[in-house]
Amino acid sequence: MNLFAYRGGRLHCEELPVDELAERFGTPLYVYSAGTFRKHYARFTRAFAPLDPLICFSVKSCANLSVLRLLGSLGSGFDVVSGGELFRALQAGAPPEHIVFAGVGKTQEELTEAMQAGVGRINVESESELSVLSHVARRFDHPARVAVRIIPEVDARTPHHYTTTGTKDNKFGVPIEQAAALFRKYARVPVLRLCGLHLHIGSPVRTVEPYETAIGRAVALVDELRGEGFTVDTLDIGGGFPADYERAEALPAAAYAERIVPLLEGRGLRVVIEPGRCLAANAGILLTRVIHTKDTGRRRFVIVDAAMTELIRPALYDAYHFIWPTYAEGRVPVDWSREQPFEGLVRCDVVGPVCESGDFLARDRALPALRRDDLVAIFTCGAYAMSMSSQYNSRPRAAEVLVDGREPRLIRRRETYDDLVQAERV
Ligand code: LLP
Repeated sequence: MNLFAYRGGRLHCEELPVDELAERFGTPLYVYSAGTFRKHYARFTRAFAPLDPLICFSVKSCANLSVLRLLGSLGSGFDVVSGGELFRALQAGAPPEHIVFAGVGKTQEELTEAMQAGVGRINVESESELSVLSHVARRFDHPARVAVRIIPEVDARTPHHYTTTGTKDNKFGVPIEQAAALFRKYARVPVLRLCGLHLHIGSPVRTVEPYETAIGRAVALVDELRGEGFTVDTLDIGGGFPADYERAEALPAAAYAERIVPLLEGRGLRVVIEPGRCLAANAGILLTRVIHTKDTGRRRFVIVDAAMTELIRPALYDAYHFIWPTYAEGRVPVDWSREQPFEGLVRCDVVGPVCESGDFLARDRALPALRRDDLVAIFTCGAYAMSMSSQYNSRPRAAEVLVDGREPRLIRRRETYDDLVQAERV
């Protein structure tokens, strides 16, 4: 569900034809729909309302300050994983107590920054980190509020194994059976308030069962810890809820909530949830223009001005993103499936200008015949697109625009060549 739609054959973002945005702001261009963010946020909070959870938007999915401000204005807190993300969340005006700080390799400096800011919770991922934090926290007159990230040993069956995080083969968290020992050792350290558990099993998690299993294990651990006399008042169940890439394939938040809420209701736990993709992915597209086309005799290539630098997901995870021309009279796609039911489509690879064979956005895709200067939209680019972008091949980063109704607002200017070398003028 999103506010990108073809009207009169022209792709619109809310009230605006996207080709006008490309004319005005250039390409490649990330275009976000404020209304879609609002709808997704409302739908998510409504689904989990019986738990009255703290929703902490996962900053890594879409880190633009204006997007963070928009979600913050709706009541969202933030999940951050680095000093840089903490800085962004604070810059966006987030109340520090609505920030949770995860990450497997937080440095002493980052832990100090988290203490200085007074973040709501630090989700520690190893005994080593807990030990460093117990030293850092001595310098402050408030205790560190801490949750232990557990490995629930659940395979979330994510589409690519790189994004599975809840098993002992992954670097995140501490094995669930070691958590009680950490509580015994650290819960009574005066500068720590060790009173929560955290988990995040992967992303995207397309079925509910892995959550049920992981949360069930976490709740059993809460009972065990409470039985030993420890205070456990918070359970952070992470993110990982899906978005639509191919059709409307993502289960709605309500389908997850229906089975997660009963596991957590009435247990005296402050529930934290860290959605990223399910709020952001379908709220953004990437606009790109065809630079050249060519045929090698074996493959037809459509070379566009976006590349792995703007969207690395196809190269990194072999991820599928639907691509279609922004002008599509008579051929408006009904869904985002790989094979569209139109005559005269041409099979091609959509690739970027970067000097890597892995620089592709789509392979062997049947598309309307594309020509130089045609404008093309890549869908589901609101999450893990700009936030994973790079300047590889010395490509200035693209601009970002946030559309609200009829209003487009430039929320990140296009980088210049000068931006490429600024930090090197030392
Ligand atoms: N919480 C923690 C601790 C996380 O590590 C993540 C994502 C999230 C929440 C948010 O997950 P989401 O709700 O967005 O699925 N770059 C990959 C995804 C990696 C996600 C890493 N952690 C991609 O493009 O698919």
